[in-house]
Amino acid sequence: MADETQYDARLRSEELRSLINYHNYRYYVLDDPEVSDDVYDSFMNELREIETEYPELITPDSPTQRVGAEPVAAFGVVEHRQPMLSLSNCFTDDDLEAWHRRTSGLLGYSDFELVTEPKVDGLAVSLVYEDGKFVQGATRGDGRQGEDITANLRTIRSIPLSLHGEYPQRFEVRGEVYMTKSGFEQMNEERAERGEPIYANPRNSAAGSVRQLDPRITASRPLHVYVYQLGWCEGEFPQRHWEILRWLSGMGFRTHPESALHADMSECRERIGWWDELRERLDYDIDGVVIKVNDIRAWDELGVVGREPRWATAFKFPPQQRTTRLKAIRVNVGRTGAINPYAELEPVFVGGATVSQASLHNESDIHRKDIREGDTVIVQRAGDVIPQVVGPVTSLRKGDEREFEMPKTCPACDTALVREPEEVAYFCPNTEGCPAQQRRMLEHFGSRGALDIEGLGETRAALLSERGVVKRLSDLYYLGEDDLFALPEFRRKGDRKRGEEKDQEYLSEEGRNLLAGIEKSKSRPLPNVIFGLGIRHVGYETARLLADHFRSMQSLLDASDEELQDVEGIGPTVAQSLAAWTAEPRNRELVERLAAAGVTMEQEETAPADGKLSGLTLVVTGTLDTMSRSQAEERIREGGGKVASSVSKKTSAVVAGASPGSKLQRAEKLGVRVLDEDGFVQLLEQGPAALEETGGE
Ligand code: IVH
Repeated sequence: MADETQYDARLRSEELRSLINYHNYRYYVLDDPEVSDDVYDSFMNELREIETEYPELITPDSPTQRVGAEPVAAFGVVEHRQPMLSLSNCFTDDDLEAWHRRTSGLLGYSDFELVTEPKVDGLAVSLVYEDGKFVQGATRGDGRQGEDITANLRTIRSIPLSLHGEYPQRFEVRGEVYMTKSGFEQMNEERAERGEPIYANPRNSAAGSVRQLDPRITASRPLHVYVYQLGWCEGEFPQRHWEILRWLSGMGFRTHPESALHADMSECRERIGWWDELRERLDYDIDGVVIKVNDIRAWDELGVVGREPRWATAFKFPPQQRTTRLKAIRVNVGRTGAINPYAELEPVFVGGATVSQASLHNESDIHRKDIREGDTVIVQRAGDVIPQVVGPVTSLRKGDEREFEMPKTCPACDTALVREPEEVAYFCPNTEGCPAQQRRMLEHFGSRGALDIEGLGETRAALLSERGVVKRLSDLYYLGEDDLFALPEFRRKGDRKRGEEKDQEYLSEEGRNLLAGIEKSKSRPLPNVIFGLGIRHVGYETARLLADHFRSMQSLLDASDEELQDVEGIGPTVAQSLAAWTAEPRNRELVERLAAAGVTMEQEETAPADGKLSGLTLVVTGTLDTMSRSQAEERIREGGGKVASSVSKKTSAVVAGASPGSKLQRAEKLGVRVLDEDGFVQLLEQGPAALEETGGE
């Protein structure tokens, strides 16, 4: 009898294993789950129960084994049957051209196909399969010998433990194990909270996680894999790399969906440009694009030089992280009085630009990361993002580094700094008299999203403010030619050709342009004016919500705390900040003077009330192909719809592009409709009907 039950348990556990493996594949490899988490969990629980009762039924490829085996004292050594090679590098188009020329020369023809793949920044692994089961995983090591990390790799869900379809009896694949940026950040936050040291970047963190003697630690880390290469293989295999990738993907391996086949180098170059554009928005780091000759038979012919095959090369993007010396930590004063520490650095070329200053967030962040003056630090810069100090390289400390101390008084006006109980930042409370705040406020007022005053940049804002020409924002609109002429910076010598006196001075072209720019700014729309006032927590989007709701500056000023909080998208923090601002007599006076000068104080009629999207609230997330996010939002507003910045039950739909992030997850959790770009375009064209048509789940 007992035998019979065990027999049933064996059958059931086999069934469960293949079910779970299938759903793992849908979830971790295809990113396309078929069942809910609950269903998946119930399979797992059932299998765990059987395995607890009959431990002899546990197999090495059982999905329950992904939680991580017992720690080991040291890793075993694995001899690679085929050396794990590295890649030659190209940094410019010329390098790439030269690689192609050499390759063509060796082959005797130049019209060969190429495959491009992202060079994901993690660590290379070798995975060996026997009879469709994962039997050995190793690091690259020195290329000939690596470390046996099988137990750790088993915990990574996107590494299949058993394969489907047809597969060779024994073979090896190679791929890159990496950590997502979001997973990395979350993990670091948790580590910091527990007082543990934080990792410098996702790559180090992935490498550290895989080379853990305790597989249970590996299991707890957000690791993934992309398989990019067939190693050795006992049995038949396709003769083109492109087909190999598809063949591997058919067995259940996670290959990169954006790998691409190209007829020639110009297609490769175009693809490299595409990756360069995209890479900042990806949730994982890539440091380049790998270019491979498609025809495997040509690989033997081309051979290997040193450790680098001639049939492939890597086009490397400029590094986004570098180390340099932190000379000093200084602070500047923001427009709302916030004191922002920043790092003065030994200039370093990173992310395509030379960086000599980087943001340091706030005092507690500096202490949490233990950043000291004189440290060697890791500096990060990606695209247009402000460079940041990631953290110190503590192993390079000499002992003369200095811990940072927040100044007690404002560096611009010497007023004692304050810190509000719930806030991390210090403030200079001298809102009215602090020259740094005035200057910053003026700069903000004239900026693109605010009053967009042509000719009033950072330098001019500083000049007007420091020379006392503009004491309050509204003074701008009362400036005359004489006021500017009083500043030598706005004077020029007479020009005979214009019929002017040579020895006489005149108002410069810049001065005239500035006055014209100020005049023109009076007709900027109400949201820009509200944003320009520089009220704490009131960004452009909030200003737009306020303008849409209250329709005039006066109604906004008159609104009570409750009325403010009733506006959709306005929370208590914004409402409080607004109420405090409007309660100040000098702020009301500022608005009066702006109004008297003719600055817009009413909301113009916007979207037609009967627009196709009226009554709908949409959230846009991720990267769209045919338009930028702000263009998409503009089109929603044009259609009479509302744009929200966070997903709630009231959201009509979420428009999700590539790399959408947490908003998509939230939408799915709340059951809010998600549209891809095509769906969105349909919605713009057809209105809510488009939501119904494809609405059925
Ligand atoms: S092919 C002989 N393809 O780059 C070719 N490598 O510098 C072996 N890498 O150690 C590598 N993505 O860690 C190849 N799509 C890709 C890759 C890739 C990342 C890494 C891998 C390797 C290093 C070579």
